[in-house]
Amino acid sequence: MSDSINVQKVNGLKGELTPPPDKSISHRAVFISSIAEGTSYVKNFLNARDPEATVNAFRALGVEITERKNELVIVGKGLIGLREPNDIIDCMNSGTTMRLLMGVFSGCQFFSVLTGDSSLRNRPMARVTEPLRLMGAQLMGREDGRYPPIAVRGCKLNGITYKMPIPSAQVKSSVLLAGLNADGCTTVTESAKSRDHTERMLKTFGADISVDGLSVKISGTNKLTASEITVPGDISSAAFFLAGAALVTGSEVVVKGVGLNETRTGFLDALKAMGADAAVQIDSDHRDEPQGDIRVKYTEGLKAVTLGRSDIPALIDEFPILCVLGLRAHGVTEIRGAEELRVKESDRIAAMVTELRKMGAVIEEYPDGVAMEGPQELHGATVESHGDHRIAMALSIAALIANGETTINGISSVEISYPGFFEQLRKLLV
Ligand code: S3P
Repeated sequence: MSDSINVQKVNGLKGELTPPPDKSISHRAVFISSIAEGTSYVKNFLNARDPEATVNAFRALGVEITERKNELVIVGKGLIGLREPNDIIDCMNSGTTMRLLMGVFSGCQFFSVLTGDSSLRNRPMARVTEPLRLMGAQLMGREDGRYPPIAVRGCKLNGITYKMPIPSAQVKSSVLLAGLNADGCTTVTESAKSRDHTERMLKTFGADISVDGLSVKISGTNKLTASEITVPGDISSAAFFLAGAALVTGSEVVVKGVGLNETRTGFLDALKAMGADAAVQIDSDHRDEPQGDIRVKYTEGLKAVTLGRSDIPALIDEFPILCVLGLRAHGVTEIRGAEELRVKESDRIAAMVTELRKMGAVIEEYPDGVAMEGPQELHGATVESHGDHRIAMALSIAALIANGETTINGISSVEISYPGFFEQLRKLLV
């Protein structure tokens, strides 16, 4: 398969789609089912590269995971039943896999080594090694545990009370999973609420966990009991088509069965603040994770928005597509307080600024974000995904409104979270 695609300006996106299952929830379903006791069933699991890394890891730890039609069956080993892996674990491109495994492995009585692709090996791990070491964990890695590969010598852990310097669901989840295997209670406090899928799912599996504002407390040595999970659609994947519908003249798109957990819906709030014609219908029968349908129509005269530090956690993965929306909105759109974007699968601030400029955008780059005055015309160009799935998809949507043809290189990266993205896009074309 060619790793490039040519995309032209289009006359509209129309139709209904079901986005791929949520990536974050899919990872967590494998983690939590594997350390629970009994057989868990995960319906609508995301079959994509990132969750595959998590499934491979738990298979290497002796967990039986089988695939039935659109369902994973996971025979949990309990909190202390995982076996020592007999090789290095390759987390591929997945930060969630590596960071959450560090938390689980810290309290397991065995030795393990975690690595990943060149992107993951350059992502910061001190944010995880720091709190885990406070719990007593023995972790080693390049630059004193700042970068992978990371080696873990599992040992007895103590609960801690930890104030997180940066809001991060991966760090929070890692510490909570370590807390399950620690003596006493562990409390983690954030400065802004990051996605809370781990907390919700641990509760479903019977953990003694409570949430008080920005703090989460978990008791150690809990037994988790197998359960059944249905993964909702991924709002971060849906966001590309929702933005496309708002941007491309004559569009109307309905996205069905999307997760609407409020720690993830910052993008929808931003879209509405821009004046987009967006309607949400919540389904009433989903107990753990809210979900529903979203309809977006083309909106003339989108308005600029200002997004700051406290807005970022709820739309962290939507930064690339928000940059595209900002270019078409009237006025100055600013997205600041977002330095975390520099340490994602790519430096997403630099990547979007560099590639959108190739398409003619005038966009200011700051250490912690971007600013741009719209509306701006874009033109076709040859652009790069930087090996980052969300950059590839955001640039594809930008190409739909650019004059002429755009070549996007490095599109195989979409396999990380949205296999079938381009087929879906083709189906929506008017
Ligand atoms: C994720 C949390 C976020 C997000 C990532 C997935 C998760 O990262 O950007 O794509 O599944 O917990 P941080 O927790 O590092 O902000």
